[in-house]
Formats: sequence, structure tokens, C-alpha cells
Amino acid sequence: MKNIALPFALALALALAACATAKPAPPPPAPAPAPTEAHGHHALVHRFEHADAWAPKFDDPARDEWQRPKDVIAALELTPGMRVADVGAGTGYFEPWLSRAVGETGIVYALDVEPDMVRYMKERMVREKLVNVQPTVAPEDGINLVDLDRLLFVDVWHHVPNREAYAIKIRNALKPGGKVVIVDFTLDSEHGPPKHHRLAPEMIVRELAAGGLSATVSATKLPEQYIVVGTRP
Ligand SMILES: C[S@@+](CC[C@H](N)C(=O)[O-])C[C@H]1O[C@@H](n2cnc3c(N)ncnc32)[C@H](O)[C@@H]1O
Repeated sequence: MKNIALPFALALALALAACATAKPAPPPPAPAPAPTEAHGHHALVHRFEHADAWAPKFDDPARDEWQRPKDVIAALELTPGMRVADVGAGTGYFEPWLSRAVGETGIVYALDVEPDMVRYMKERMVREKLVNVQPTVAPEDGINLVDLDRLLFVDVWHHVPNREAYAIKIRNALKPGGKVVIVDFTLDSEHGPPKHHRLAPEMIVRELAAGGLSATVSATKLPEQYIVVGTRP
């Protein structure tokens, strides 16, 4: 009995000593601060992970009524053979329009940070036989392409972090004379992100100018959105 009890007592004593000297668990890390209204950037709180769930909303035929895709395409001033990137292309609402406008000699890069959006667009482009559209996963903070004629952002710019730094990357991705067209929701529009995430068009003009682009608010007004156009000198 003695031989068994002794190691047991020793182990118990050691365990009690360990408990007495153990430090309390550190407090859980503080939650990340919410993105601020001033920055308008809400990528941290808004992901678009499940393309199939977003498709009925993004590709709702009723959207054409207020989105006016013809007017957006007109603002891009596309000609056949152009190299265009649609950044934050989502489920590919604009891809049939862009594909038609640049024709078989042109190319449309349909970029999105969400791999599932890109997966969805790849399947859609095969289904709809849009062979000049190339869906690709893009980094959140820039564009890995050069020599582009046009860049399009529809309801995306307010998701972009460090927008002035991003504007420099836009400039570098465009050919001289190339244009970026940014479409986003007005403060009082019915659709769109929560109001405190919306951006004034004049702010976007300043952000593009900080990146070395000459930018203006377009005279084309959509029912719920404004259009800002930036040009690489
Ligand atoms: C509101 S949806 C708009 C989709 C599409 N442009 C349209 O008009 O139907 C925003 C999309 O932008 C993508 N996105 C957000 N931030 C991005 C970034 N920094 N670069 C590329 N895509 C981004 C999201 O994953 C999402 O698919």
C-alpha cells in the first residue's frame, strides 16, 4: 500500500503547487474597431462570400431600371479591341455589356476579391459563351494588370481600403489616356450600402487626383448613382 500511496501523494502535491502558481488566463483580445464613417470603407464588415445567394439581387432584371447599364457603358466610351477591367465584378452583371462593347478582339478582366464570385462568373461566362471575359481573383489593395484602356468600379469604391494609394495603382494599370469610371450610390438613393458608408462624388475626385489622375463628376446622372471619371494624363 505504502509503495502506491507515496507516488500518488507526490503527484497530488505537485498538481496543487502548479495550480497555486498558475497565472490567470489573459483577457480575450479586444474586438477590431469598426471602420469609420470618415473612411467610408466597410470591407471588414461586409464580405460577399456566397455568389449564389447574391445573384438574385445583383442580377435582378428590375435592376436595369435604375442601374441604366447603357448609360454606364456610354460613359466608358468603349471601342472594339479595348482592354477593360471590371473591378469588384460580383456575379458579372456588367460582363455581357462589356463583352459586346469590346468585341472579339478586346478583353474584359472580371476581377473580384471573393473567390466564390470568380467561380460563379467562370461558370456564367461559359454558360453565356462570353469568351472574351476572363474572371480572375484580385487583391483587395490593387490591380495586377497593366496597359488597360478602361477600368470600371460599380458599387465597389466605398469597399476599397486606402483609396488614395489604390488610385496610384489605377494610374499605373492604365495606358496614357486610359480612363477609370466609378459608379456609386448618392447619399439619398433608395438602394445601396448603409448611408454612413456612402461617399460624396467630390471626395472620389480628390482621391483620384491624389493618385495622379485628372478626375471630374460626369454630367450623366443615373437615378440613384453618380459617375466619376478619371483619366490618366
Ligand atoms: C456590391 S458588389 C457589386 C458587384 C458588381 N460591381 C455589380 O455592380 O453588380 C461589390 C463587389 O465588390 C467586391 N469587392 C469589394 N472590395 C473589393 C476590392 N478591393 N477589390 C475587388 N473587389 C472588391 C465584392 O466582393 C463584391 O463582389
